[in-house]
Amino acid sequence: MTDTLFSPYTLGALNLPNRMVMAPMTRNRNDENGIPKPMATTHYVQRATAGLLITEATQVSDKASGYMFTPGIYTEDQARGWQIVTDAVHEKGGRIFSQLWHTGRVSHTLLQPAGGDPIAPSAVKAETMVFTPNGFEPPTMPRALTTDEIPVIVEQFAHAARLAKSAGFDGVEVHGANGYLIEQFLKDGSNRRKDSYGGDIPNRMRFALEVVAATVEVWGPGRVGFRISPRGVFNDMHDSDPLALYSQLAAALNDIPLAYLHLIEPLPGHPTFKSQEGVEPVAAELRKIFKGTLMINGGYGRDTAEKAVAEKVSDLVAFGVPYLANPDLVERYRRNAPLNEPDQDTFYGGDEKGYNDYPLL
Ligand SMILES: Cc1cc2nc3c(=O)[nH]c(=O)nc-3n(C[C@H](O)[C@H](O)[C@H](O)COP(=O)(O)O)c2cc1C
Repeated sequence: MTDTLFSPYTLGALNLPNRMVMAPMTRNRNDENGIPKPMATTHYVQRATAGLLITEATQVSDKASGYMFTPGIYTEDQARGWQIVTDAVHEKGGRIFSQLWHTGRVSHTLLQPAGGDPIAPSAVKAETMVFTPNGFEPPTMPRALTTDEIPVIVEQFAHAARLAKSAGFDGVEVHGANGYLIEQFLKDGSNRRKDSYGGDIPNRMRFALEVVAATVEVWGPGRVGFRISPRGVFNDMHDSDPLALYSQLAAALNDIPLAYLHLIEPLPGHPTFKSQEGVEPVAAELRKIFKGTLMINGGYGRDTAEKAVAEKVSDLVAFGVPYLANPDLVERYRRNAPLNEPDQDTFYGGDEKGYNDYPLL
């Protein structure tokens, strides 16, 4: 029988009722201590018919933030806040992973404890904007981590992974995409290190693999996903040879019992996600190399997602903006019903408007 978007899927220890995943989406609606508000519970519960929900990116330490009102999972209070969300999602029959995040150089002294400098693999500033108490500003020049500090950051991911477990999540996704700390180590546009974490591909992969391994150590097999964006340029990223880098990374990940590899590979003409010029799509090659579950994302709709699953391009498909605007996306795709229009003005920050008021069918 041909698999469809609506056939069940066994993801490690979890039974997903369908192949549709809600992609992680930052919405800047948490309190100043990085604790989700009651409206977050409503938001995720509304979308609990997804095969899997992935939360908005969530900071692993007090130095990991690059935007206002994004959540954390490094204090007991934050974990208690998330427990309310996970309990409610489970009550509705859903499954939810926490996306673990360190923004690295995509930050500002105004967002750092005691006005410290943001950290990065190298002192290379990103041409991008961050959301500070003074509005949008370019990031501050980051400070390059010393070799000795790197295990401390790896441990922060492990600590956050432990708190996510205590908060009742079903697993975690390590955010290795979109120009944040892990990708800053992976790509040579941002990694100019001369130690064992910079230079050739095995060295540039080292930090990512250490973080993933430490997280799997906490969670065990089949509970940790890893998100990558090989051709992504968001936050001023580029690499001299993404295919070589990510082929080696996918091969190395075969030795770690991941739940899935989450690949952002935007379909041609994606309205917001640009791809590095002159770099061909890598999905087909990574599919051949990576032996575990693949989740694909970037501009998918009902028909393109159906095709991707039927043709085994990917096992699962994650939807960002379609899920943002359609809490009952599974039902809409099942019935081939029309979708709500997303309201760009309410993507980041604000209240329940544009967050919890998208109508059901
Ligand atoms: C409002 C918004 C917030 C996002 N926040 C995150 C995030 O926190 N973590 C992440 O990995 N990607 C984030 N993304 C990227 C999405 O997960 C997804 O990769 C992107 O929207 C492309 O998928 P789509 O074409 O289905 O929307 C965000 C996208 C949007 C629109």
